[in-house]
Formats: sequence, structure tokens, C-alpha cells
Amino acid sequence: AASKGMRLGSCVAWGRPGADRGSFANPAYAALLARDCGLLVPENEMKWQAIRPSATSFDFTHMDAIMAWATAKRLPVRGHNLLWHQPKWMPRWEENHDFGANPAQAAARLLVEHITTVCGRYGTRIGSYDVVNEAVNPADSTLYQTALSRALGGPEATLDLAFHTARTAAPHAELVYNDYMSWEPGNAKHRAGVLALLEGFKRRGVPVDSLGVQSHLVTQGPDARAATAALEGEWRRFLDAVTAMGYGLVITELDVRDNKLPADIGARDRAVADFTRGYLDLMLSYPSVRDILLWGLSDRYSWIEGFEPRPDTARRRPCPYDDRFVAKPMRTAIAAAL
Ligand code: XIL
Repeated sequence: AASKGMRLGSCVAWGRPGADRGSFANPAYAALLARDCGLLVPENEMKWQAIRPSATSFDFTHMDAIMAWATAKRLPVRGHNLLWHQPKWMPRWEENHDFGANPAQAAARLLVEHITTVCGRYGTRIGSYDVVNEAVNPADSTLYQTALSRALGGPEATLDLAFHTARTAAPHAELVYNDYMSWEPGNAKHRAGVLALLEGFKRRGVPVDSLGVQSHLVTQGPDARAATAALEGEWRRFLDAVTAMGYGLVITELDVRDNKLPADIGARDRAVADFTRGYLDLMLSYPSVRDILLWGLSDRYSWIEGFEPRPDTARRRPCPYDDRFVAKPMRTAIAAAL
């Protein structure tokens, strides 16, 4: 990746020394991260739930530990995220927060303080932020409301304020809207909602540089060629529309769910690798894709195992290394695609 002027990396978690997690504190995993990554992103440690225990306090202990390790390894870090605009991902206290007599002003103050504090703390050490994460409801293309946006005067006002504040607080940084709108036909409303949001940002002059394409992929069966051919339809039209508006693209959270594949590990790993290759070939046909982040390097720590276990109870294999840190065909496929 580096030889092509690109950066390939992974999310990383905080963990106590000795904890068996996808953490820098786990020596075997740290060695893998240091060897393969040119970029890192905190898996959970920068989210409101992690750094904002209450409206009046911050706790940067775990995020600072990630930054310290990354700095020691000379690894750049992306920020994820400054606002995950879904009720279920805001901290619990926010739901019942008393915004007082002037709720719009109090909500704006809370959001501005949050973004200014995070960006101020990490300064130029973070060069790219997912300013807003997942604000579009895939069921009907609308923007989610949260207690914060209700107080502030609506979701548009909230998201716009987040980006304007990030631009001021981190003028050097790439500002990204990040979402999981995927290529499958069932995601048409999600994609339409994201396009409408991006059009609105342009119309209103909101400083958004790039679309973060999370890329939590799902295989469609053993025939990876047919699946990647399907990407050439609606998905390419979506990316064309995004880039025609002037947005860059970042692959922010790549992993592959091995659905509709037999339990046989060899067949699953091959199909996952082929699908990854086809997907990256298409994505890299857009010259603005310079950063590719995996959502974990090893199957051992992938969030997919908890989020959507296989119905046949076989362990998930969504990452380029298996649960004993042995490289899989997916790693070869990624290297070949670059
Ligand atoms: C996930 C983490 O991997 C899990 O540990 C956590 O429980 C939930 O969040 N989209 C995102 C990421 O933007 O922040 C999510 O990360 C995965 C989906």
C-alpha cells in the first residue's frame, strides 16, 4: 500500500496488558498490527459512550493509551467518531438529558464542546475524522432523530453543526461522513438517503470532504465472480454519483461475512478472498481511495462473531488472519488488489 501512496490499516481496541483482545496490549496482536498497518483507528474508544460518561465529564484514558502506542510505533490514527447519530449509539444519559430552558442553545453547546475537546486534544496527530457516523435510517431514507437533534432543532442542523465545528477545531483534517450503505439491492433506500444527505451538505455549504464506505461485506455464495459482477450495477452508479459531487472515498471498516457458503473452511476462505478482490478492484478504480481500514486483522477478535454468528455455529472468518494469526487467502487477495 505504501509503495502505491496508499495506507492500509485496521481498527485497534484498548485492553489491559495480558487481555486477549484485538488490542495493542496483546503482544502477538500488537506485532501483527505493527507489521501490517500503516494506519489505525480506535474500534470503540473515541465514541461518546467511551469518552463521555456524563454531560459534564470526559474520560480519555483508553483513547490516550491507543494514541500513545500508535505514536510510539509512528502509526497515524483516524478519528472514529465525533457523533454516531443513532439513538441506540448515543450514551444512555443523553436520552433523558435536561437541555433546560433554551434547549437549542444547550444542545449546540454540548455538541460543540464535545468536538472541540476531542479535536483539540489530539491536534494534528489525527488527520482524518469520521465526523458523523450512520445518520441515515435505511428503512425510509430519512435522518435519525436523537434527543440531541430534537433539542437542537433537527438532524440537519445537528449534522451541519458537527462538520462546521470539526472544520474549525481541526482545519488540517479530512472530514468524513461514514455509513454502511452497501451494494445489495435491498439497500436502495439507504443509498438514496445517503445521496440526499450528501447533496444537502453541498447545497448548504457544509464542509464534508469524503464519504466513508464502511464495507462490512456479505458474500452471496461460492460464485464470487457473479457477486462482484453485480457490483457493477447500482453500486457503481452510487459511487459515480458521490464522486461526481466532488466527494472523496475512504474504505473505513472492511470485513467479510461468509454467508451462503458451506462450512468447509477452505471453500469459505477462497470465496471470501475472491469477493474481497473483486470488491477492491472496483473500489480502487476510483482514484480518491487512498486509505483502506480493516475492521480487525484476526478472526479471533472480529465483532462479527457476536453481531451475526453463522446459523450453522461454525466460527466466522471475516478477517485476513485466522484466530491463530495465520494469514488467509483474504490477505493475499488484498495485497494483490493494491
Ligand atoms: C462496533 C465494534 O466493533 C463493536 O465492538 C461495538 O460493540 C459496536 O461497534 N459500524 C461502525 C463501528 O461504525 O463503530 C462498529 O463497531 C461496527 C459498525
